[in-house]
Amino acid sequence: MKVTALSLLSALAITTAPTAFASYTPAQQPLQADPSEYVPLHPHLEARSRELLAKYPLIDTHIDLPATMRTIHRQPMDAIPKLNVSHPGHFDIPRAKRGGLAGAFLTANAPCPGAYGRDVGPDFLNPTETVQHVLESIDLVKNTLAYYPSLLKAAKTADDVRQAFSEGKLAVLMGLEGTHGLSNSLSTLRMYAELGIRYVTLTHVCHTSFASSNGGGAGTSGSTLPPVHPGNGLTPWGITLIRELNRLGVMVDLSHTSDQTARDAIRHSAAPVVWTHSGAREVWNHPRNVPDDVLSLIGDGPGQNGGIVLSVLFSTFIDPYNATVARVVDHIEHIASIVGKNHVGLGSDFNGISAAVKGMEDVSKWPNLIQELLYRGWAESEIQGVMGGNLLRVMEEVEKVKLELRDTPPSPAIYEKRRDLPAHEWGGPNMAYLAPDVVKIVVEQKRLRDEL
Ligand SMILES: *[C@@H]1O[C@H](CO)[C@@H](O)[C@H](O)[C@H]1NC(C)=O
Ligand SMILES: *[C@@H]1O[C@H](CO)[C@@H](O)[C@H](O)[C@H]1NC(C)=O
Repeated sequence: MKVTALSLLSALAITTAPTAFASYTPAQQPLQADPSEYVPLHPHLEARSRELLAKYPLIDTHIDLPATMRTIHRQPMDAIPKLNVSHPGHFDIPRAKRGGLAGAFLTANAPCPGAYGRDVGPDFLNPTETVQHVLESIDLVKNTLAYYPSLLKAAKTADDVRQAFSEGKLAVLMGLEGTHGLSNSLSTLRMYAELGIRYVTLTHVCHTSFASSNGGGAGTSGSTLPPVHPGNGLTPWGITLIRELNRLGVMVDLSHTSDQTARDAIRHSAAPVVWTHSGAREVWNHPRNVPDDVLSLIGDGPGQNGGIVLSVLFSTFIDPYNATVARVVDHIEHIASIVGKNHVGLGSDFNGISAAVKGMEDVSKWPNLIQELLYRGWAESEIQGVMGGNLLRVMEEVEKVKLELRDTPPSPAIYEKRRDLPAHEWGGPNMAYLAPDVVKIVVEQKRLRDEL
């Protein structure tokens, strides 16, 4: 239906701005751009959707903004001042405001090494630049936060998100997509956690030393990857990683993983798990979507994991022949029919996909999704949960597990296939950098190693 700018603005004017919203969150204020860009899906529910967005935080668990900044700018930091004006891709601050976005996990990632012609080798040991790429992405997010103190607020906990919302700022969180970004190291993970990373996707579209991927990501044929690990799930080293993630209060993200990795991770995780951007395989058969037997492991029942599935918006995963907001909600409702309405949420994959569904083309269109939920009779408390309440509860449970494990020491484990430790090669020419007693030890260790 055709909506005039006037009718839309008057619909928006019905809602009142809570005084708590100072600078960032005018979701309830008139649209700033040409309103014809946004056509409400259910115009009679437009005002109500805005009310809910003003009342409850909407949190998106997966936006690949750092990747876009790095993709198009020679100096990625040059993107930062543009973010409050307009920026290519699905996200910039004006559109996020218009869409009522309250919190976003900006993803730090490096492409899988194979994507830029690198072969990590059969033991995942060949050097790559993944750690540098991840650190540069984190640096980009931190500098963006520093540039916009009145609009954005760094968040690491559920309370931080609530605080940002009450201050009318966009809560910015960080996740790591893919354990290839750890370069086989738990030390790297611990440092990322200190920098603010709050979820780790166990794989992206490649297998790692920790876990098996399902492949089939955006831009691929959609086929699964041939297995490399026995059982095509988590490796023993990956189980060590899960314990460390639990101890650090970093969420275990199962989007992109093989089904067996998901089952293994659920069995070994002491904390709720998450899928930061996936749909339901029963609704659309794609390896990036979660199958029912895995969904049945999630919920409030005895022995179930209290995790959450955050629904993706990529047309290819939703339904390429009917890529609409209604179809996204089909995924959410199917997932909810198995895990419960209190274990679902939203994770767009904006900036990491070539096309979002019609009606949810970018971050400014979130009201349409709320309208579809209202249209289907979801109660306010349930919608509040989908928007972010369920995720905040999961984050609190993960934080609680961290607290319970506070006396557990960090894992000293190193990847068993590493050959660079002990670091015998660090002694320099004729071991000139080593004290005599250290030389003795190195000589003895080398002798023992050569005898083996
Ligand atoms: C962001 O953009 C808004 C709207 O143009 C403007 O009012 C505000 O001053 C800008 N803030 C910053 C920090 O650039
Ligand atoms: C698209 O999906 C929606 C939601 O299930 C459904 O109502 C509609 O009929 C579908 N349209 C087509 C063309 O299949």
